[in-house]
Amino acid sequence: MDRKQAIRTIKERLNIADIVRRYVELKRNGPRWTAPCPFHQETKPSFSVNEEEGMFYCFGCQASGDVFDFYARINGLEFREALEQLAAEAGVTLDSRNGGRDAGQARRERGVRQQMLRMYELAASHFAQNLTEDCGGECRDYIERRGLSPAIVERFGLGWARREWSALSAVLHRAGFDQRMAVEAGLLGRSDRSGRAYDRFRGRMIFPIRNLSNQIIAFGGRIIADEDEAKYINSADSPIYKKGDQLYGLAQARRGISARGCALLTEGYMDVLTLHQYGYDHAVGVLGTALTPEQIKRLSGFTSSLILLFDGDRAGRKAALRSSEMLLTRGLGCRVVLMPEGEDIDSLLRTAGPEAFEELQRRAPDGLEFCVHVLRELAPREGVEWARNFLTKVEVPELFSPYASRLSQHLGLSEAVLRQGVAELKERSKTNAGQTLLSARARTNMRDREILMYAVRYPHRLEDLRQCGADMVLTSAIARALWEKLEEYGPEEAVYHLDEREKAFWTKCRAGEAPPRDSGDRELDALVKSLDKFYSVSQTSSLLAALRENARSGDFNAERDYLRALQENWERRNGQS
Ligand code: GTP
Ligand code: MN
Repeated sequence: MDRKQAIRTIKERLNIADIVRRYVELKRNGPRWTAPCPFHQETKPSFSVNEEEGMFYCFGCQASGDVFDFYARINGLEFREALEQLAAEAGVTLDSRNGGRDAGQARRERGVRQQMLRMYELAASHFAQNLTEDCGGECRDYIERRGLSPAIVERFGLGWARREWSALSAVLHRAGFDQRMAVEAGLLGRSDRSGRAYDRFRGRMIFPIRNLSNQIIAFGGRIIADEDEAKYINSADSPIYKKGDQLYGLAQARRGISARGCALLTEGYMDVLTLHQYGYDHAVGVLGTALTPEQIKRLSGFTSSLILLFDGDRAGRKAALRSSEMLLTRGLGCRVVLMPEGEDIDSLLRTAGPEAFEELQRRAPDGLEFCVHVLRELAPREGVEWARNFLTKVEVPELFSPYASRLSQHLGLSEAVLRQGVAELKERSKTNAGQTLLSARARTNMRDREILMYAVRYPHRLEDLRQCGADMVLTSAIARALWEKLEEYGPEEAVYHLDEREKAFWTKCRAGEAPPRDSGDRELDALVKSLDKFYSVSQTSSLLAALRENARSGDFNAERDYLRALQENWERRNGQS
């Protein structure tokens, strides 16, 4: 059957309400079915299913579509995958010829992906087999030292990559796989000099990464002795794997997440394993990147409520702030658990036990509260700016009001003032009123530029920038990405990890001024001054607005506080200029 016809037939045979009912409890409401939306956090039902039209939609988060959209979204699948699975369910055979001129190309690509999946399957069983043999003795010892149970080793399919240079490559060769494809799949590397292929994973404990169809699509590998090498290496991107799209352990955790109605998000492979071993079967890992929108999309099919586990240090808190921001603006809810100094959840569970973790979870602030706290600590003058920016990014209209009201409480600012600022920001970025007034957006962009310009030109002085809170106030996605890469890879390496847009931005930052003349002290001074001015201008306008607002209610105590704050602000500014 061709694709169009198949889609029509599947829709005739499968009732959308029956499919949706597997995931949420539907209540009859006139001609429609309603429920709380599974795609964003809410208690009142703004999610509807219309059987006649075969459609679902949500007033809250504007999600909508047909049975394929629903199925794909809630299972974290591509449209094509949803189509295949629902076709099987409806007893419809899809036409593999697929029509059109690209059919041949599409078939070849599908063939490559299938081959690669088989290679990974074979590699995984090879690694697991190694673990039971003599050569795997050192890894078995390591696993025991780390306290991983046999059940966990089995459930996550852990393995051992031998120390030889061509153990896996021989196995793949014997099975008749194409060597070039094995290189492309990231299992083998190729020597620049001799052109020979070799095993990329050697002398490492292997963590297979599965997708939601339970296929192995990548590996992580950890050194197990004191070796002078990267602690972890991961499969590079390939036709079957894209870093940042997947979550470690999601295949194993999906049941637990659905049953508990929430997911635990952590940073490391080991952390995921230990959490599962202690019964936290709803734990998944972000795999060495910051949380991405794709990962959120994948998770949001299973739950709209997350518990984030992060290091308690500065980098950890900042990462937690960015993750919370992303989740909240997309309508998911989260709470944040910070680990005590020097611990990760793996070590915490093993030394202090699950009781300690339970206690941390009980005390965990919710995402919005956490953001306000962190900002207060790391960039105390930035709260109002952040809140306005955050509100402009909220994607779920019905969440805007509750967020605005809670933020205004936390910040001690009237809600009207906060909202007004937001309206202005949105308005100005729309009209792009760059001629007379600098728009708010342009002003923040300029500030981003200034900070990044300094960072790019004096990369060894990132710490000084951190000291004055500069990294916390970066607003544009590109500036943030660039900063993250500077931090992650260091000044020399970073440039090799930039995409085209980032590279252009980087070049602009470099070219913006003459080459560095001194150690950067003078320019840092200037930057700090300019940041201060920015803060104080934005704070003054907030305070004045607050005063105006307050005058109506006539709260004299509040008025006095505002006036004092204004005064301090002026003094600070005058003291500096
Ligand atoms: P253990 O040391 O075995 O407990 O692992 P861990 O997960 O606690 O390590 P760590 O906290 O240092 O790192 C957290 C996560 O970042 C890891 O699980 C990896 O996903 C990633 N990571 C750590 N070190 C490296 C590295 O050298 N290279 C890469 N690519 N990723 C790393
Ligand atoms: Mn660890």
